[in-house]
Amino acid sequence: MFYKEMGDGFPLVLIHGFPLDHSIWNECMISLSKKFRVIAPDLHGFGKSTDTPANSSMAGMAHSIQTLLIRMGIEQVALCGHSMGGYSALSFAEQFPASLRNLILISSHIFSDSEEIKKSRFSTMEVITKVGAKNALANMPGKLSDQPKTQQFCMNLLQKIKDRSATISLKAMAERRDAISVWKELEDRAMVLAGDSDNFLPIGTIREMEAINPLSSVKIFEGVGHLPMLDIPNIVSAEIIEIFKE
Ligand code: MLT
Repeated sequence: MFYKEMGDGFPLVLIHGFPLDHSIWNECMISLSKKFRVIAPDLHGFGKSTDTPANSSMAGMAHSIQTLLIRMGIEQVALCGHSMGGYSALSFAEQFPASLRNLILISSHIFSDSEEIKKSRFSTMEVITKVGAKNALANMPGKLSDQPKTQQFCMNLLQKIKDRSATISLKAMAERRDAISVWKELEDRAMVLAGDSDNFLPIGTIREMEAINPLSSVKIFEGVGHLPMLDIPNIVSAEIIEIFKE
């Protein structure tokens, strides 16, 4: 598993979403590394990491993060997961509670897919088999952000996406379980950051998470879409640093 590392201090692991890689955190890493030892891996099948296992799941992704941490001699971390990275971070919280201090979700949530979303994931998988992931997901950058710079960044990443990784990840997301009880148990160690203009995550979902765990910290960014770490990196970093203040 490839990872980028920067800074000293308590380890903070940043997990990217679908179909991206560690580079979405590049700007955030600069400010976060003043306080943390920041580690940003590429999930298997993405960026510079080796291929996705055929039976990939959120639990498997979480397991590969834990394997990396063991290899690095790290016992406890704060995890920050974006979207699909958040789903795998929730699975990490469930499987390895002793290894987790804080969980931060960015543009991510604790529920399993609705039947409608599942159906759309399976139809995207079918389109990928016909025209390839690059073409099947070509309209995604426009939905992720309204910022031309962010859209271009995502468009460039999309050129590198492997059909196999895209298909396997879509299936893994469709098959994931909810993480409601884990979220509740995290109490004040849980945080969620999201934009109110996210085409993938309605604000109502974030409000439901707040009701399920009233001790969690919730921050909504106005006019921001699915990628706050690219659209407003300094604000995102400042929010993360803030929760670690005494
Ligand atoms: C992501 O950004 O990782 C995906 O959009 C998540 C999802 O489709 O649920």
